[in-house]
Amino acid sequence: MPELLNRYPDFYQDWVFEALRLRPGDEISDAILEPLSRLSRTWLAGDPEEQRSCLKDPEALRAYTCYYMAINMPKLWFMLDRCQPVLESVLAEQPELKVAELGCGPGTFLWSFLFYLQVWDPRVLARLSRASGIDDNTTALETAENLARGLRNRDGFAHLRPNFIRGNWRRHLGSDDDVIIFGNTLTESSFKTLDWVEELQAKMIIVIEPGTVDSFHHIRPIRDKLMDLGWHINFPCTSHHPCPMKPTNWCHFHINRFTRPYIQRMSAKSGRLNPRHNFSGFVFSRHAAHGPDEWRLLSTLRRVKRTGIRYVCDGEHMRAAVLGRRDKNDANRDFIDAVIGDRIRMRFEAGKDAFLKSKHIRSEDTVDITDTWSRTRE
Ligand SMILES: C[S@@+](CC[C@H](N)C(=O)[O-])C[C@H]1O[C@@H](n2cnc3c(N)ncnc32)[C@H](O)[C@@H]1O
Repeated sequence: MPELLNRYPDFYQDWVFEALRLRPGDEISDAILEPLSRLSRTWLAGDPEEQRSCLKDPEALRAYTCYYMAINMPKLWFMLDRCQPVLESVLAEQPELKVAELGCGPGTFLWSFLFYLQVWDPRVLARLSRASGIDDNTTALETAENLARGLRNRDGFAHLRPNFIRGNWRRHLGSDDDVIIFGNTLTESSFKTLDWVEELQAKMIIVIEPGTVDSFHHIRPIRDKLMDLGWHINFPCTSHHPCPMKPTNWCHFHINRFTRPYIQRMSAKSGRLNPRHNFSGFVFSRHAAHGPDEWRLLSTLRRVKRTGIRYVCDGEHMRAAVLGRRDKNDANRDFIDAVIGDRIRMRFEAGKDAFLKSKHIRSEDTVDITDTWSRTRE
C-alpha cells in the first residue's frame, strides 16, 4: 500500500471539531458512530433517493463531515499529484483563479483543493479570488459556512471568503470558474441525457466518485461525452479511446483511509478494519498531457515467485503485465517501484504488439515513471 498523501494542515482536527462542536473523544461517541452506521446502511441499500436525502439529517451530516470528509480529501490529492504538467498550465499562469465544487456538501473537495494549493504553491493559493460551493442541502451548507469561518484566522487562508450557494448545481455549469469539482455527486444524480455536459466552461474539470462498478459505469459516459467535445483526459487514461473496461470491471484506485489518528479511533470502534478506500475519478482539461507509450498503473504489485504482476492500461488496452525474475533489471525496475496510479512509459524492443500478445515485459524493455509529484514507495 502506498504511503499516505498527506496534505492536511496541522490545524485540521481542531478546525473540523470546532465547526462541528465536538470535543476530542466525541468522535467515538454514539452520537457520531450511530449516524455513521445509519449512513453506511443507507448507501449499501443502494436507493439513490434515500442516499440523497440521508445527509439532510443534521446528525448524519455531522458524522459524515467528521469521518468521510477526512477520508475523501486525499483522493483529490492523489489525482492532482499525477496531473502536474496540466496543473502548471491551468493554475500557475492565472492572474487570479476561481474554483467551485458542485454538490459540495460540507465543502469537502473545496477544502481539499485549498489545502493542496497551500503545499503545492502558496502563491497560487494567494491568487485564488473565488472559492464557491453549490448544494441544495441547507444543513450541509451551514456546516460548510462554519468551516469557512474557522479558516479565516488560519495563515494563508485569511484572504478567502468562500461563497456557498444554495441551489441546483446544474445552473452553475456555465460559470466562469477555472476549476470545477464534482465529488460524490454525479453518482446520486440520474441523467436522461448528457446534454448538460456541453454547458461546462471551466479550464479543468475533476470528477471523484465512489470506487464501485456501478459508480464507474455511471460516470464513464460523461468521460466519453467530454472527450467527444474536445476535452483531454489527463487522469487516468493516457490516450483518447473508448475505455477498454468490460461492464463487470471498473477503473479505480485507493487511498489509505487511516490517515488521521481520530479516524483510526473511529474506524477501530466501528469495526471498519479495511484501510483501503476505493474511488474512481477523472481529470479533464484543454491540455494534452501524454506522450506515446504511456500507461497507467491500475493495481499494486502482486508478487508470485519473484515475478511481479500488475494491471496497466494505456486508455485503449488493459493488460495484466508480467515482469519475470529473469527479465528484471535497472532499466525496467520502475515497473516494480511505481505505485498504483502512477503513469509509466513502457518501451518494448519487440514492439507494443508483442507485449499486447504476451503481456511480458522483457529484459531489453524499459519502464520509466513519467508523472507523480511526490514519490511514494510501496
Ligand atoms: C454524497 S454528498 C457529497 C458531498 C461532498 N462533495 C463530498 O464528497 O464529501 C452529495 C452532495 O451533492 C448534493 N447534490 C446532489 N444533487 C444535487 C443537485 N442537483 N444540486 C445541488 N446539490 C446536489 C447533495 O445535497 C449532497 O450534499
